[in-house]
Amino acid sequence: MSYKRTLVTCALPYANGPVHIGHLAGAYLPGDIYVRYLRMRGEDVVFICGSDEHGVPITIKAREQGVTPQDIVDKYHKVMKDAFTGLGINFDIYSRTSSAVHDENAAEFFRKLYDQDDFITQESEQLYDEDAKMFLTDRLIEGTCPKCGNPHAYGDQCEKCGSTLSPEELLDPKSKLSGSTPVKKKTKHWYLPLNQYEPWLRDWILEQHKEWKTNVYGQCKSWLDGGLQPRAVTRDLDWGVPVPVDGAEGKVLYVWFDAPIGYISNTKELLPESWEKWWKDPETRLIHFIGKDNIVFHCIVFPSMLKAYGDYVLPDNVPSNEFLNLEGDKISTSRNWAVWVHEYEKDFPGCEDVLRYVLTANAPETKDNDFTWKDFQSRNNSELLAIFGNFVNRAVVLTQKYFGGKVPANLKPEAIDAETLASIKPCREALEKYLDTFHFREALKEAMNMARIGNKYISDMEPWKVAKEDMDRTASILYTCLQICADLAIAFEPFTPFSAQKLRDILRVGINAGWDHRAGEGSPTVNFYKADEGLALHTVPFAGSLSKEALSSPSLSLDWSMLGASELLPSGHELGQAVLLFRKIEDDEVEAQIARLQAIKAAREAAEAAKAAAEAAKKVEPQKPEVTFEQFGAMDIRTATVLAAERVPKTDKLLKLSIDTGIDQRTIVSGIAEYYSPEDMVGKQICILANLAPRTIRGIESRGMILMAKQGDGTMRFITPQEALVNGATIG
Ligand code: MF3
Ligand code: ZN
Repeated sequence: MSYKRTLVTCALPYANGPVHIGHLAGAYLPGDIYVRYLRMRGEDVVFICGSDEHGVPITIKAREQGVTPQDIVDKYHKVMKDAFTGLGINFDIYSRTSSAVHDENAAEFFRKLYDQDDFITQESEQLYDEDAKMFLTDRLIEGTCPKCGNPHAYGDQCEKCGSTLSPEELLDPKSKLSGSTPVKKKTKHWYLPLNQYEPWLRDWILEQHKEWKTNVYGQCKSWLDGGLQPRAVTRDLDWGVPVPVDGAEGKVLYVWFDAPIGYISNTKELLPESWEKWWKDPETRLIHFIGKDNIVFHCIVFPSMLKAYGDYVLPDNVPSNEFLNLEGDKISTSRNWAVWVHEYEKDFPGCEDVLRYVLTANAPETKDNDFTWKDFQSRNNSELLAIFGNFVNRAVVLTQKYFGGKVPANLKPEAIDAETLASIKPCREALEKYLDTFHFREALKEAMNMARIGNKYISDMEPWKVAKEDMDRTASILYTCLQICADLAIAFEPFTPFSAQKLRDILRVGINAGWDHRAGEGSPTVNFYKADEGLALHTVPFAGSLSKEALSSPSLSLDWSMLGASELLPSGHELGQAVLLFRKIEDDEVEAQIARLQAIKAAREAAEAAKAAAEAAKKVEPQKPEVTFEQFGAMDIRTATVLAAERVPKTDKLLKLSIDTGIDQRTIVSGIAEYYSPEDMVGKQICILANLAPRTIRGIESRGMILMAKQGDGTMRFITPQEALVNGATIG
């Protein structure tokens, strides 16, 4: 189908923590790469994002920190916005779902569906915290798991045995907010009857969108095959968009209902006059970039909402990635297992492209993938620096040295030059094929392959040696190298825009980077260098197709269609300063990052071990079978004092104790050396079973047994009277 414009969205991240590399790899970098690519091809694109500022987790975090939810979202909205900008992810708008435009827009959306009778309502009993005056979501309820006895099971799941639970099944449920016992209370909610959309969804996704990525298509199919249920779109909560109908006091829209509407609200805020053409004109193509945990909401729930409303375009594609792990472990905000983007930007200033490169080269496009700092270092040092950076630097520095910084004339061409340039040509088609189908890792490989071709060419040709005998041939070699440099300045723009810009500054060329909607509807612009005006950078409106001739000569501007063309830099064109595109990443830099993560892991493991030990110690053994009074009375239990103690040689566990029992002095061998040293025992009053039949242990006759209390974790302590008693007092 033909289209005129593309609306690209990236999932609105929750404003309850900063952005980490998993977010970037999942949705934000692929979105940015795609938008940059389309723009270079002259397509009209609007790129929408913003913070998702509603939902229960934000209210919990606020409560924990003793601040308001608004304080939390204000803080993280800024951190996230700056982190994206820092990495060159330039949304046309990065707004927020707490904005006034969104409040009104989301309410209007609900209201229209309500007026059309698209919702059903249901009353149900839900658990309510009378102290906190709040209905409790499943995660806010804690209790004992009926299956395994874990005392910290959640209302929806026991993390210990993995059972799925409902809050009613928990034994002794408690509210996590106040600790009080929740009560049942009736409440009414509005539901979107997804089951009614099922036949339409099956056709629309399973028949009409077979081209979606297999991980996305597969997840949709399994949801649809499992059968869809009505979904509640309202919640009892005081943080969110109030439900705009009578009888809904104290209720807000469910965060997953309001957040995707945020895409529309943010477009409206950016383009108050023309937003509708972006959402309602069938010639708009809508693409959602998301992580895999968002698939059902973007492929099933939101399209059903749009369909119910009517008039809206539906997503054309929903390229979702799988998850990125960090050093072998699942990334987790709550466990602080992450590389935070704002911290990376502080620790590695000027290395924004390195992170972009590594995350794209390793993108979890078809399966989960792992980020490691060692891989980060080696991809920088042996790919970006050793291949791309090194090639460009050699080409430019030698041109400065031998030709006064001007692109030399192609004085003595040889077949290898043309062959090399010809081998670059197919890269463009490959790049397009991969970028058009959201295979960004493969696309990046193609771009890197171009740099590899250049680097091999300059190494094989050795212009620094040729220059000693044959300046004409040297001119042709460097002429060829510089053409490849210009190709790289185009091809790398979507992936590593900072370095591509640096490279264009070195080459003194501009680029047609396409439409920029940041200031509103706007117009596409192109920037270029004009050699006759002190080589200043000019930015002009771009009308239609771009050609070098369209711009006043001698100016130079590149665009995507020139990738692989024969002469991008004419002879005589003057280059700018040579600067390094990449720097080496040193061992100590990545070691510091690894050490930071190891410290977090060690602290977590210590805390978990301490918690597990405390839990285990609390475990109590079940009661033993009944005994009679007579059976008990047959045991001679009495007080005694330890006179002397020593380890039994060649054993870890045994102490030989000399005991005053009040009736005699005797020897008892006891397996308590793990818990008490001999010095601990001397002089202690204890309890013993005196009439236990004698046993010989390690050649020592032991007469009796020390009474010990054994705790759930296996540790043992002896029982000592609270006040000193005579030895030999009988216990019973
Ligand atoms: N906040 C959600 C997340 O981080 C994504 C919301 S996407 C939207 O998983 F469509 F709802 F906006
Ligand atoms: Zn359990």
